[in-house]
Amino acid sequence: MRLLVLGGTHFLGRHVVTAALERGHEVATFTRGVSGAPPAGARALIGDRDDPVALPAALDGWSPELVVDTSCQTRAAAEHAATALADVAGYAFVSSLNAYRNWPPGPIAGEQEPTWDSDEDSYGPVKAAAERVLVAALGERFLTARAGLVVGPHDPLYRLGWWLDRIAAGGRVVVPAEGLDQPIALVDARDLAGWLVESVEQGRSGAVNATGPAGMTTFGGLLDTCRDVTGGDAEWMPVPEAELLAAGVQEWSHLPLWLAARTARTAWDVDTTRARELGLPSRPVRDSIADSWTWMQTSERPEPPAGRPLPGLPLDLERTLLTGG
Ligand SMILES: NC(=O)c1ccc[n+]([C@@H]2O[C@H](COP(=O)([O-])OP(=O)(O)OC[C@H]3O[C@@H](n4cnc5c(N)ncnc54)[C@H](OP(=O)(O)O)[C@@H]3O)[C@@H](O)[C@H]2O)c1
Repeated sequence: MRLLVLGGTHFLGRHVVTAALERGHEVATFTRGVSGAPPAGARALIGDRDDPVALPAALDGWSPELVVDTSCQTRAAAEHAATALADVAGYAFVSSLNAYRNWPPGPIAGEQEPTWDSDEDSYGPVKAAAERVLVAALGERFLTARAGLVVGPHDPLYRLGWWLDRIAAGGRVVVPAEGLDQPIALVDARDLAGWLVESVEQGRSGAVNATGPAGMTTFGGLLDTCRDVTGGDAEWMPVPEAELLAAGVQEWSHLPLWLAARTARTAWDVDTTRARELGLPSRPVRDSIADSWTWMQTSERPEPPAGRPLPGLPLDLERTLLTGG
């Protein structure tokens, strides 16, 4: 079928293009042309989705039957897509757990939990508003995948990537003492991408918490796997949470994927029963980590998107924490 990917040159979108081509679709992508080209075999349509006339102009009579939308970050982008693509047979939208008003801190018991309904232009409210605009236009032809933590090759945010680089460098590595046993969950971009394509093909609809099963690994298990995969001599230096916070270590950004215990217990507690019922795969964490490391070693690393600084523990903070002063 004719399948349009909104996005398609970055991380998740690239994997959607690859999955759609492998499944025999005629694929076009729609991007500004800033982040490079889509995988070979897809037709690259160029335009800014914040511009109301750009998408119809770029389509130029080519009418997609299916849409996978990985790139929506503004209310205008959702409104323009709803207008231009109202007649498609299926539309799969990549949203976020942040669309829930109560996440973080969570927990999320199921997809019926309330989403944001405010005029704020921050990430969660915008994703929730985009869902509402698109479901109003598409009804039962609309599926929203509220993604959790997405990992895998081509990830330009380098959250798992920072840990891989740091652990590969070896020596004493600051880790959050109370965080190591914390159950976490993630979804491999390739699993999510293939499932999104299958979902629009099959006409699935409604909301789905699109992440791995709660407790599929722990934070410590993830770090141990990074050490196995990179083969370094890294030694964990557990630092109590109170010390990390007092020193100014920022959750998620300085120690990527780490949340202080207060938030972590509920934020990682997301019910994914519907995702499992609808067949969202969850490959072994080791495969995601090993393939991410191979990609980082063998490919030119893309810049993070504008406004998304590289994560990681600043060297001076690391030194202070390791020397106890
Ligand atoms: N990473 C996570 O852990 C996580 C978790 C939850 C949800 N999500 C969601 O998952 C999705 C990730 O998608 P992604 O990795 O493929 O990348 P993304 O960073 O959301 O989107 C980037 C793609 O969109 C295009 N794009 C950006 N702005 C555009 C505009 N104004 N008009 C047209 N195209 C535009 C980019 O190409 P150009 O720059 O060339 O335009 C690129 O192809 C996002 O929707 C994100 O919110 C991610």
